[in-house]
Amino acid sequence: MGKVEIMTPAMREEMRASCALAAQTLVEVGKRIRVGMTTQEIDDFVHAFIVERGAYPSPLNYKGFPKSVCTSKNEVICHGIPSAKDTLEDGDIVNVDVTTYLPKEHGYHGDTSATFYVGEPGEDARHVTEVARRCLELGIAEVAHGKRLGDIGAAIQEYAEAQGCAVVRDYVGHGVGRKFHMPPQVAHFGRRGKGKRLTRGMIFTIEPMINLGAADADLMDDDWTVKTADRSLSAQFEHTVLVTRDGVEVLTDRGETLQNSEDKRWVEPLPLSAPKAGLGA
Ligand code: MF3
Ligand code: CO
Ligand code: CO
Repeated sequence: MGKVEIMTPAMREEMRASCALAAQTLVEVGKRIRVGMTTQEIDDFVHAFIVERGAYPSPLNYKGFPKSVCTSKNEVICHGIPSAKDTLEDGDIVNVDVTTYLPKEHGYHGDTSATFYVGEPGEDARHVTEVARRCLELGIAEVAHGKRLGDIGAAIQEYAEAQGCAVVRDYVGHGVGRKFHMPPQVAHFGRRGKGKRLTRGMIFTIEPMINLGAADADLMDDDWTVKTADRSLSAQFEHTVLVTRDGVEVLTDRGETLQNSEDKRWVEPLPLSAPKAGLGA
């Protein structure tokens, strides 16, 4: 899988700055989500917001991706391409995935995403979105020096499946830093005690994609858009995290509530120290 880079304190500082900008961009996107807007309007906003702050939207021209942000609506799992023809309607869910490249001393990428509710969500939309949100929280709670990648994957998979959802296997989290995608690959399924050991100074994303139906993914003819094979709803949340001696620093943490997402949680978050057995109940 390749060697995982250990970030020095100087590199971590640059990562903090880039990740803070990505997080701030996502917060601002949340304030602007509304029925009737197009995903192109999200792209326009994200592009301007990032460029005005001296950074670059990492998706733009990345392996030929044509826009500055990914917008993945309803049955789209990931890598949705913003379009003026793609209008957000009441009851839709849309994941907005922001990645910033902040050129400072060297230049580092920060990567974060969230699923937003457009207007009033139905029960299915809420279920898959809240399960995905919780999966990310549970995955992050596993991160600590000495733990393993399989601990993260297992925690996510166990919860998602107990909630009647499926974890996408074809797309995974990833190391992030000088490059947008680097080792390790962070699967959102797996077995406790297995996989690469986590060491302090590692930085990677956790970004579970959770489907209401089956796990299978289907790549569209544009070679980017990934949909659920059964066209069931899919939701995703993503943070960039740093492994520390005591646990984890969430580099893309937000200082405020995410509008049109966290403010519409339909369940209170369980304390992360809650016994695992209680989660499926
Ligand atoms: N931000 C996505 C991720 O979380 C990757 C998008 S690649 C793009 O890894 F080219 F579609 F932007
Ligand atoms: Co990512
Ligand atoms: Co991302």
